[in-house]
Amino acid sequence: MKIAIDGPSGAGKSTLAKILASELGITYLDTGAMYRALGLKAYRLGIAANDEPKVKELIGNTVIDVLASEGGTQVFLDGEDVSTQIREHHISKMASDISALHCVRIFMVDLQRKIASLRPSVLDGRDIGTVVLPNADYKFYLTASVEERAHRRYLELLARGEKCDEAQIREDIAKRDYNDMNRQHSPLKKADDAIEIDSTSLSVDEVKQKMLGFIRKG
Ligand code: DC
Repeated sequence: MKIAIDGPSGAGKSTLAKILASELGITYLDTGAMYRALGLKAYRLGIAANDEPKVKELIGNTVIDVLASEGGTQVFLDGEDVSTQIREHHISKMASDISALHCVRIFMVDLQRKIASLRPSVLDGRDIGTVVLPNADYKFYLTASVEERAHRRYLELLARGEKCDEAQIREDIAKRDYNDMNRQHSPLKKADDAIEIDSTSLSVDEVKQKMLGFIRKG
């Protein structure tokens, strides 16, 4: 079984993908984590995310390994576990910028398809239903208003004790949406055959029930 979940950042994709993976006993692969790992490496080396020749060279010298399981995705960058560092705020923008490059997409899609071919899995990202797994058994496009997504992120950061400004978060999310939806290669968009779920006024459990309802119906 292959399940694709796409949508903008903060819509709840990874939360739902983890829940589905554990309910269905399948593997969860967070594809955004892979773009984040490459973004982190570029950041550390001072390489601009839009410098295609340098990023191409970087890909040739980089090993990204993912340990995908029901519980989540651990990411290793050249052998180092970077699962925590890739979540830092500035890496979100690096990941979004670097993911627009064609050479990066070729590299990641190939790796993601290889991982997904090994076991039944649920993948979340931006191009899973359209590019990575066009023949997925179930495709979901999960959305929510920018305000709601920014608010959820704000509460998440507060809970972690991080200082943050909700208006700034909203602005960053809107910028990243624009980047991801308007890039030339594999922009974020709903696959024609994906089921769209707007989670703005739904609880996690309600979204889960909706998704499982579609899956159990076959
Ligand atoms: O899901 P995320 O926020 O961790 O993803 C970080 C960035 O990676 C996102 O802004 C766009 C890019 N990405 C992508 O282009 N394709 C994917 N399948 C997953 C993520």
